[in-house]
Amino acid sequence: MLMDEEILWDNRYSLGINIVDTQHKQLFTLVGKLYALDNTKNTKEEFKIILNELSEYMKNHFKDEEEYMQFIKYPALEEHKQFHQDLIDKLAETIKSSSKLSILKIKIRIIAKRVLIEHIVNEDIKIKLFEISKINNSLIFDSADDKDEEYSFDITNIKPDV
Ligand SMILES: [Fe+2]
Repeated sequence: MLMDEEILWDNRYSLGINIVDTQHKQLFTLVGKLYALDNTKNTKEEFKIILNELSEYMKNHFKDEEEYMQFIKYPALEEHKQFHQDLIDKLAETIKSSSKLSILKIKIRIIAKRVLIEHIVNEDIKIKLFEISKINNSLIFDSADDKDEEYSFDITNIKPDV
């Protein structure tokens, strides 16, 4: 993806989890707003207002997503929470930095790509894959003779097809 390329929502990013998908779409919209800002017309302060909006929305979204993962007993919850915290820290650190506006915009675009594309496509998609594997396992166990077999799921074997 090129730096100036617009980041747009695509249905292939959908996890099939309404609240999460709706929030992911809103994150794309907020990042779109950042991309739409013109260097010559917007001051650093205006840019920071949108950044703070993105930052707040991102935190609330991560909280909801973590609650959902907890609800479905997602096995890599702690690791996923750490990814969220790293993104929050990185964004906060960048917002606080006193870089020139042009530099700040470039840095933010890099983070936005990490939040929206890499995180959603590489990490959030594993939540969906986990749910699919749970359904498949329950179908297998339902038809198996030995129903005492313990359900297991190895997150390290998941390779998102993207
Ligand atoms: Fe996430």
